[in-house]
Amino acid sequence: MTVRPDSIRGVTITGTGMYVPERVLTNRDLERIVDTSDEWIRERTGIEERRIAAPEQASSDLAVIAAERALESAGLTAADIDQIIVATTTPDRILPSCACTIQQKLGAKNAAAYDVFAACTGFIYGLGLGRGLVATGTADTVLLIGVETLSRITNYKDRNTCVLFGDGAGAVVLQPCPPGEGLLSIHMKSDGDLGEVLEVPAGGSRTAMTPDLLAAAGHTIHMKGKELFKIAVRAMDESLRQALEQAELRPEDLDLLIPHQANLRIIEAVRERLALPLEKTLINIQRYGNTSSASIPISLDEAVRSGRVKKGDRVGFVAFGGGVTWGASIIRWTAEAPLVATAAGTARREAEA
Ligand SMILES: CC(C)(COP(=O)(O)OP(=O)(O)OC[C@H]1O[C@@H](n2cnc3c(N)ncnc32)[C@H](O)[C@@H]1OP(=O)(O)O)[C@@H](O)C(=O)NCCC(=O)NCCS
Repeated sequence: MTVRPDSIRGVTITGTGMYVPERVLTNRDLERIVDTSDEWIRERTGIEERRIAAPEQASSDLAVIAAERALESAGLTAADIDQIIVATTTPDRILPSCACTIQQKLGAKNAAAYDVFAACTGFIYGLGLGRGLVATGTADTVLLIGVETLSRITNYKDRNTCVLFGDGAGAVVLQPCPPGEGLLSIHMKSDGDLGEVLEVPAGGSRTAMTPDLLAAAGHTIHMKGKELFKIAVRAMDESLRQALEQAELRPEDLDLLIPHQANLRIIEAVRERLALPLEKTLINIQRYGNTSSASIPISLDEAVRSGRVKKGDRVGFVAFGGGVTWGASIIRWTAEAPLVATAAGTARREAEA
């Protein structure tokens, strides 16, 4: 497709996919590891269990499965992808990027590939980037993945953090659509002054890893939970309002809100501020915990495949995360029910199954 560089196209999501590892880590399991209780974790976070990657699974392994499902639901193959954007804080390695490893595993011969580091807001940031690429005609098909193996940077001796995080991957395909449809708005922001509320202190160019730092769990997530909680509620509220305003919508116009799943009480506080009914808010934190950049695309795929998101629905995404970063986006859903392969090898609409 040839597009003049100054022309702007609409951009939409044409496919979704997700994958979570098989191993389930329950609150009861955690009771045996740290001084905590199932009751405390449920009451303070809403989490009941989370998934943990197998020892041989790295982020790219989870991502590839989610990506293949997203491509299939869009009726595409890996050769159709122009760009692969991977939102992650837990790449397989620092070099090469996680995206290049995924590009190789998918066999996406025509794709550029790179990572975006925006912690739990990574999916929204990737959406903003992908939207720009497709809108300007720089790319026709962008594969955007949010993937984390947070269990690899979690300290299972620290009860303040280890109860929160889980592993998983979600993916979407971004493609052009008529202007005014699909993604209606994006709002993205950051504040590095607050960087220390959520950090992995060692292992970068500032503080190289040493045996002592490793022993002190310097390679794991350190968090000031209480501070982060307040920042998160304020930031998500602000961002969602900005994204709604850009889209010329009010909170009550949303058919579904898909918030980043960090803490049920944070989601509740945001929902109450915006006066959104519970049935219009997607909550799956009880099953997956906080999967950072993967939480929104995992939730979206579940919502699409269960028929909770239908063509014409207005869906809001909102997230906050380390950095700190935050953002929101509104989409008017344009896709029909996802395409799935049947046993006979033909494709049919999942909703007709
Ligand atoms: C982490 C979080 C769940 C803690 O909940 P909270 O209500 O703020 O709890 P507090 O920090 O006030 O801790 C209350 C008590 O519970 C204790 N506690 C902390 N974790 C515990 C656990 N897993 N089990 C039992 N007790 C725990 C604390 O030590 C504290 O004890 P103290 O009063 O004797 O010092 C909450 O602050 C939160 O979710 N913050 C945001 C985190 C987040 O979203 N991070 C990711 C960003 S994307």
